[in-house]
Formats: sequence, structure tokens, C-alpha cells
Amino acid sequence: MDINDRIARLKREKNAVIAAHTYQPPAVQELADILGDSFALAQKAARSDADTVVVCGVRFMAEGIKILSPKKRVVLASPRADCPMARQIEPERVAAFRRAHPDIAVVAYINTTAELKAVADVCVTSSSAVQIVRRLPQREILFIPDKNLGDYVRRQVPEKNILTWDGYCPVHNAVTADDVLEAKAAHPGAAVAMHPECPPQALELADMVGSTAAIIDYIRGVEGEVIVATERGVVDKLSLEYPGRLHQLRGDCLTCPDMKLTTPLMIAEAMEGIGGDEIAIDPALMEAARSSLENMLTYGA
Ligand code: 13P
Ligand code: SF4
Repeated sequence: MDINDRIARLKREKNAVIAAHTYQPPAVQELADILGDSFALAQKAARSDADTVVVCGVRFMAEGIKILSPKKRVVLASPRADCPMARQIEPERVAAFRRAHPDIAVVAYINTTAELKAVADVCVTSSSAVQIVRRLPQREILFIPDKNLGDYVRRQVPEKNILTWDGYCPVHNAVTADDVLEAKAAHPGAAVAMHPECPPQALELADMVGSTAAIIDYIRGVEGEVIVATERGVVDKLSLEYPGRLHQLRGDCLTCPDMKLTTPLMIAEAMEGIGGDEIAIDPALMEAARSSLENMLTYGA
């Protein structure tokens, strides 16, 4: 049986949905019932009446879905798919810092493990970080783990004292200002859309800074050419819709290896119960992590 037919049959039998991040390979995005950035996946999966959610993304995304849909069976299609940034600081270290600085708010980027979310006050996405930090009652903020996103927020919210950790996304952090200048020279007149996980020197040259979802909206909303500085999954998919309009910045370095691990066969095997990794999180840990995610909604995701 053709793999697409096998997946369609399994979805009906298991009452399953496929949730895929926009960095996934086009063949995987084509199969998705839910497509979006990490928080959109968790929100939309929670609203669905599926019994099983197959996650095509990295582990923290599957955990986020499980935290907001504790009664659903959530299976990460590729068990090895992990985001290195999500565990670049130890939860014990954050907890010790909190004890030493009781007035500080710990703000965790959504790209974190459940253990890190559990020791934070609030989670943020790349699109909500500025707004949420601005609205927090605390002036002193510890922002974990992404130093680049933390630095971007610091520049937008100068009234707060924001301490950052030294974490980073190895994919986006590789972008340099010279890469952007070269791309602008090669495509004069093209606008530059960039993810805030890129370093500050590069971000200064951007016309637009935003999450993957915001970048996609931006591309759809403008008419001209766009140089896209985020993981290449966005351009790989959207250039089918907008041929010749999009230019991938440094496609060779802007490929997240973990995001490319999922295959259609893995999706089928995850539903069949012979592959994938079913997410299980300790109930107390899940409760603490959920509180940080719910606070994100309170402060305006
Ligand atoms: P988004 O929340 O913008 O989708 O980012 C996820 C991610 O992994 C960025 O590298
Ligand atoms: Fe993590 Fe970066 Fe890959 Fe996103 S692109 S999943 S932040 S390593």
C-alpha cells in the first residue's frame, strides 16, 4: 500500500492528527493536519478532538503538546529529534538562581524542556516575548536560554533589567552581518525577514524580525522579493507558492538537522505503535510546566 494511503487509513483507525512544524521537510508538511510554529501546534492540538497526536518536530514541541493535551496520546515521530538549545541550562541552576533572587521573574523561551518550563514563571514565544516581558510586574528578569532573543527583547524593553543566559540556536546563531550584506548585494531591493534567534549584528540589518509564523505572514503580505533568514523549511515550502520571490539566506548553514529527521514512514510507524516515542511526563512536573505556559496566555501570547 502507498505510504499516503497507509497514513490516511491509520489516521481514521486511530482518530489521529499529524502536527508538523514549518521547518519540517515539504513531504512531511504536505501530510500535516496542523501546521505552525511551536506554540500554535500545542494550542491547535489541544482544541482538536483527536485521541492521538503525531508530532513532526523536535522533543520540546511534543512535550508542549502533551502539557496542553494531557489526556491525548502524543507521539514524537522521530525519537532522536531534539533541539540542542532546549537544554542548554540546567533546571537546578535556574532554581538556585531564583532562591538567591526572589524578586526576579524567570522567563523561559518555549524552546525549553518541560523541566525548564517548570522552574520558570512564564513561557514566551519569539513573537510574544517582547509584549510579555513588558507586561510582567517584575523589573528584574532572567531570560533563558537564548541570548540572542533575550538581547532582542532587552533592546525593545529598555525599562527592564534583563539578564540573559549564554544559550543559542546553533542554526540561527551562525548567521553573520556579512551574510546579510552579501544577500542584499545579490538581490538589491529585496526586504530581509529574520528570526530573532539570529545574532544582534545581523538583526540590525533586517527589515522585519519575527517568529516563523510572523515571517510567513510577512511574505504573504508583501509583493516584492524577500531574503529569508530562518531555517530553510519555510522557503522550501513557500517557494512552491511564490516562485522566484524568496531567497534563502545561507541555505547551507540554515538547515536544522533535527528538524529534517522525520519521514512519512516514521509517521505511519508512530501511529502503528512500532515507532516514534510516546511522551510521558511526571504529573507534578507537567502541572508546574503547564502553569508557565498558561501564564504566557495570561500575559498575552
Ligand atoms: P518558532 O516558534 O518561531 O516556530 O521557532 C521555533 C524554532 O525552533 C526556531 O528555531
Ligand atoms: Fe532548535 Fe534551532 Fe533547530 Fe529551532 S532551528 S529546533 S531552535 S536547533
